[in-house]
Amino acid sequence: MKVAFELSGEHETLPKAEVLGCLEAFDTCFKEVADLDMLFIIEIEEMPSIASRLAMTHNILEVLGFCPADTDSIADLVGTVDLNLKKDETFCVRARQVKEHVLNISDLEKQAGAIIYKRGYRVDLKNPDVVFRLVLTQGKCAFGKLMYSVDRTQYESRRPHRRLFFHPGALLPRVARALVNISSICEGGTLLDPFCGTGGILIEAGLTGARCIGADVQRKMVLGANTNLRHYGIGGELMIGDARNLGLADNSVDAVVTDPPYGRSALFRARSLEDLYDCSLKEIHRILRPGNKAVVVSQIPIEKIAEDAGFTTIGHHRQRVHKSLTRRIIRLEKMR
Ligand SMILES: C[S@@+](CC[C@H](N)C(=O)[O-])C[C@H]1O[C@@H](n2cnc3c(N)ncnc32)[C@H](O)[C@@H]1O
Repeated sequence: MKVAFELSGEHETLPKAEVLGCLEAFDTCFKEVADLDMLFIIEIEEMPSIASRLAMTHNILEVLGFCPADTDSIADLVGTVDLNLKKDETFCVRARQVKEHVLNISDLEKQAGAIIYKRGYRVDLKNPDVVFRLVLTQGKCAFGKLMYSVDRTQYESRRPHRRLFFHPGALLPRVARALVNISSICEGGTLLDPFCGTGGILIEAGLTGARCIGADVQRKMVLGANTNLRHYGIGGELMIGDARNLGLADNSVDAVVTDPPYGRSALFRARSLEDLYDCSLKEIHRILRPGNKAVVVSQIPIEKIAEDAGFTTIGHHRQRVHKSLTRRIIRLEKMR
């Protein structure tokens, strides 16, 4: 079947990377069908249950058809395609136009709804059994059946200032969750954050079912992260420790996701920031299982340092936070 991910527009590359990271976590075979603005379509035999993990996807659809984004082609498609709908099931149609405003969305919903109604199905706008969606982007239209809507409000409720222990500089939960997903951590796998701060990454990892290990040089951070994790019912091990020398066994963790200090004014323990990256990336490389991924956030380019530590860089993203801070996010692999 063809599956479409309606991606959020909050970042250009992270939403798709997050979907790919989750599919990799499930070791799923799939083929990319279309990579459009805020719409990513794949061909897959059976969808693994990744929907509840995603932070930067709005909806997941089973694609019924694909056509040019004009009224006649859409009417044609909706009128002829196999709807995969039982006679006693009610439906409604929802449409979304990415960025452009070529067609009137509410007219489009009404027209498509009328066509399906004429095919003998009952409309229920309030509580339908099936929601059909039309997604228009880059001159194309995907018509599909809603499989899953992602509850993105949960991320708002976990924003850093709403947690029991707060300290400035923590990532937003949606970003932290996307990074956890990009690490391709499996449920039950062990994820390490050696610069855990208030525990934002570990909370998101724990909620996906990962076993969490965190370290920070500051005792108050470790105590605070512990309070935050327990609040969300997440277990795991937290330690006061130096990311350059953690007492963990070689090849013992399944993924690393971390947000080390950046900016010249950041508090860190090392001779210099370069020394901190250099030694901690070597330590992360030692502890990570071969074939697995580390996702590291920085402000300066650290690919060369990571590669000197033994990693291969397999993904890059940039996220502008404000005028003087653009985060670089790299996905690293420890070769087998
Ligand atoms: C950018 S903050 C991490 C924020 C974190 N993602 C959160 O959710 O709060 C970086 C953290 O690294 C810690 N740190 C600095 N030097 C360290 C070192 N050598 N080893 C371990 N942690 C260190 C700091 O205490 C700080 O809490």
